[in-house]
Amino acid sequence: MYYPEELVEEVRTRSDIVDVISGYVKLQKKGSNYFGLCPFHNEKSPSFSVSPSKQMYYCFGCGAGGNAITFVMEYENYSFSEALKMLADRAGIELPKEDISKEARARDDLRASLLEINKLAANYFYYQLHKPQGEVGYRYLKNRQLSDETMKRFGLGFANKTSSDLYQYLRSKGYEDSLLKETGLVTIEERGAHDKFWNRVIFPIMDVNNRVIGFGGRVMGDGMPKYLNSPETRIFDKGRNLYGLNYARTSREKYILVCEGYMDVIAMHQAGFINAVASLGTALTSQHAVLLKRYTDKVVLTYDSDGAGVKAALRAIPILKEVGISAKVLDMQPYKDPDEFMKNLGAEEFKKRIENARNSFLFEIDIIRKEFDRNDPEQETEFHNQTARKLLEFQEPLERDNYIQAVAREFFIPYEALKRLVNNLGNKIGFTPQNMEEREREKKSLGGRKKDKEDGIRQSQRLLLTWLIENPGLFEKIDGIITAEDFKEPLYYKVAALVFEGHAAGKLEPAGILNHFINDEEEYRDAAALFNASLNESLGNEEQKKAFSETVLKVKKNSLDYASRNVKNIEELQNIIREQAALESLHISLE
Ligand code: CTP
Ligand code: MN
Repeated sequence: MYYPEELVEEVRTRSDIVDVISGYVKLQKKGSNYFGLCPFHNEKSPSFSVSPSKQMYYCFGCGAGGNAITFVMEYENYSFSEALKMLADRAGIELPKEDISKEARARDDLRASLLEINKLAANYFYYQLHKPQGEVGYRYLKNRQLSDETMKRFGLGFANKTSSDLYQYLRSKGYEDSLLKETGLVTIEERGAHDKFWNRVIFPIMDVNNRVIGFGGRVMGDGMPKYLNSPETRIFDKGRNLYGLNYARTSREKYILVCEGYMDVIAMHQAGFINAVASLGTALTSQHAVLLKRYTDKVVLTYDSDGAGVKAALRAIPILKEVGISAKVLDMQPYKDPDEFMKNLGAEEFKKRIENARNSFLFEIDIIRKEFDRNDPEQETEFHNQTARKLLEFQEPLERDNYIQAVAREFFIPYEALKRLVNNLGNKIGFTPQNMEEREREKKSLGGRKKDKEDGIRQSQRLLLTWLIENPGLFEKIDGIITAEDFKEPLYYKVAALVFEGHAAGKLEPAGILNHFINDEEEYRDAAALFNASLNESLGNEEQKKAFSETVLKVKKNSLDYASRNVKNIEELQNIIREQAALESLHISLE
């Protein structure tokens, strides 16, 4: 769906950015800007800034940035038109009704179409479950003790034994093969089309906004594979979604239960633990952790009690810790998973297990403990050493001491002796809490450098644009040297043309310029990133002033090189050579 630019601009200007973001993030005024904790990465001190004058936000920590519309897109995981709709509603602006044909719309907004198809498919599967041909699936779920209410709440369905009836159904709704291919629901080959899911009970996977983004299907009985999941599509990213989070986010508990599977989530919800989620068919990722951090800083891991479950917990603990979530591990013994546990011991017993869940660090030590034989002094010593080494993970002295005490108590090690061991070890390998912090910082800045691996010329164009937007006074300095045409990177050229034009007209509105990029989400995000000078890109000191003139020269030089490769005649070439020579002796000063 395309909206006229003026309309988009109206929605944007009537959605004050400070107002909008305040609905999600607690902001505090500092000088002319507002600051808060960034919702897009984990942090303890605020580096997320909102500028009322520019109507833009920018995070100095992770580089997220944009205007009110991009904020809503990022935060809610909305497409552009969804974000626009939300802001229009909020501002009381009526958007024109969508009245274009299905085909045209599919072309315009693949994402919206995929969501629409998934919704139809989910309804189709649900409907089948309650028809005679779906009886076998319905009975299967009943046998697993799911109530009708639960089946409805999770939209469980059934994929028939026939091999292409979903495909036929979606075709009858007017969707083309090319689009259906993108859903991952069907495979279309020369010999015909097949449904991906058949003869399985179906679990629709919803995002936090209750939109169906993919499916899981389970065989009834012992077939292989036990679960089949939708492939990743434009709307389904396994590493970024958690099954059940759409409901868990509404729970009033302070913690979230994280488990392995569909049936576990559902069994827990049915037993009243609506704060349960699962990462599906993949290990917990740091994106999952960041997502969880939006809703909680406490997680109780309820992974399977087998070896794989323990491994998964050991892997998840540091990932959660990294984003500031503290984890506990629930003891499921003697049962395999939450689903079995609930069937056998019930909700009340489960509640007790939650209360007694093991602190994640002690859980890790438990695992190490099992590797050593207490009766062998050599092994006992090695256990102490490994434990001491692990205790060095705590950088905060007080926190570390608390853990030394807890470990001493729980594993019958004399406190003073353990403490001495930890300190000695720390000195020996040169790990003091202070230099641990340094190491952390180094690690981060290294990562940052890697991330910023644009090639030099691209970066120069980006910097110059950013500076011009930040500081329109600079236009004077480059007058007669740089024009929009000198920005050879296509996206930067588009932005530069608008920036130069805006400057000439005396109204340079960064947040408004962004609206020119609404038809391509990628471009939109890239452009948004341009409008934010990060701290080290501002022009404070001598070094940076020098950087400015160097950058201007680089951009110009690149532009002339480009031109010289594309000359049409000898006069043109001579002109360029003259300009190139002039550039050598050009001196740009900020004074
Ligand atoms: N899984 C998967 N593909 C498989 C097996 C498992 O994607 N072939 C994912 C599913 O999300 C599943 C989770 O891993 O829910 C846990 O797997 P498992 O413990 O084997 O299944 P259960 O949840 O116990 O399934 P059930 O109770 O239905 O047997
Ligand atoms: Mn199970």
